[in-house]
Amino acid sequence: MWTGYRILIVSSLLTEIWMEKQYVSQRQVDPGADFTRNHTVLEGCLRDGEHYEEGSVIKENCNSCTCSGQQWKCSQHVCLIEPELIEHVNHGDYGWTAQNYSQFWGMTLEEGFKYRLGTFPPSPKLLSMNEVTAPLAAITDLPEFFVASYKWPGWTHGPLDQKNCAASWAFSTASVAADRIAIQSKGRYTANLSPQNLISCCPKNRHGCNSGSIDRAWWYLRKRGLVSHACYPLFKDQNATNNACAMASRSDGRGKRHATKPCPNNIEKSNRIYQCSPPYRVSSNETEIMKEIIHNGPVQAIMQVHEDFFHYKSGIYRHVTNANEESEKYRKLRTHAVKLTGLLPIPGESHGERTAISGFFEE
Ligand SMILES: *[C@@H]1O[C@H](CO)[C@@H](O)[C@H](O)[C@H]1NC(C)=O
Ligand SMILES: *[C@@H]1O[C@H](CO)[C@@H](O)[C@H](O)[C@H]1NC(C)=O
Ligand SMILES: *[C@@H]1O[C@H](CO)[C@@H](O)[C@H](O)[C@H]1NC(C)=O
Ligand SMILES: *[C@@H]1O[C@H](CO)[C@@H](O)[C@H](O)[C@H]1NC(C)=O
Repeated sequence: MWTGYRILIVSSLLTEIWMEKQYVSQRQVDPGADFTRNHTVLEGCLRDGEHYEEGSVIKENCNSCTCSGQQWKCSQHVCLIEPELIEHVNHGDYGWTAQNYSQFWGMTLEEGFKYRLGTFPPSPKLLSMNEVTAPLAAITDLPEFFVASYKWPGWTHGPLDQKNCAASWAFSTASVAADRIAIQSKGRYTANLSPQNLISCCPKNRHGCNSGSIDRAWWYLRKRGLVSHACYPLFKDQNATNNACAMASRSDGRGKRHATKPCPNNIEKSNRIYQCSPPYRVSSNETEIMKEIIHNGPVQAIMQVHEDFFHYKSGIYRHVTNANEESEKYRKLRTHAVKLTGLLPIPGESHGERTAISGFFEE
């Protein structure tokens, strides 16, 4: 006991002395001072007033920096969220505002485009589909404001989080189909449909989280049908290798299909199969798109996404490039599919530019 205390006291004294030395040597800026300072104390790097040892690694947005030879050496990736671009957009007169999305912070631009989108450009077949013009009498005056979930409460579905799964082809198709089925059935079938069912089962789109085509998704909805999202929920790990298709359907000979397997989870019992009639294409005239949404419900749109769109918060989006980031490595462009759910009033703008977009961030 006795010696134990002694040792304790001595070692705490040593610590104090050592700390004092360290304090002195950090303050003592004269490197020539030749007293008993421990050299390693002066080594390492500083950041935000904190000291880091040689070899420390810290993350700076999407880059990692290593303290080496008293300097931070950082990787040089272009990040998905660029604070300068947010500043630039919010201080300029571009008609929209930008923000920092915490789920994108830390990703490289490359990763964002690889994991957060996921729809192939429209195929020639899709582009040559006949356009349907709403036969409804011309709505001469479109409302100032329209939100599908206000007109059809409980029948439309908020976006699911696609996380790092590049399958907007599946998420947007399942969501638009679910809304349309609820609206057309006047609320009889309000289940959300399963994007995982499409991701894991849609033939030819089996790259799943590696992008896919919406034509194939609609084909699957019409010919095979999907179960609800509750029945076939999203996998936690889209990278897992055992994500094989866990659902199948068979025709009853009267044009309806039925699931041949139980839901791949223990909670939901209903494995009802939902099918759609063939999809149709709406003219890209914005007035026509709005008429279509107001009368029949949300529509799906394929859009071109530039790097700045990952910062989009509100307003009418127009592509903006940051003057300081002229270089090609800051530029990216790829297709994405979203659900359009309504229109919002923006003072001083024509009706044609007020389509609200839902589904991009899938929060
Ligand atoms: C300096 O401190 C480190 C640990 O902080 C120690 O490993 C090293 O032996 C010390 N060097 C001298 C000369 O005291
Ligand atoms: C952006 O958000 C992340 C996560 O919330 C945060 O760590 C980071 O500091 C933010 N960046 C800026 C520039 O505000
Ligand atoms: C899949 O793996 C890649 C590379 O390891 C990773 O960056 C990505 O976040 C993963 N995706 C998901 C959905 O976990
Ligand atoms: C869009 O369609 C409306 C009629 O629905 C028409 O009045 C308008 O001129 C069209 N706009 C364009 C750009 O073609």
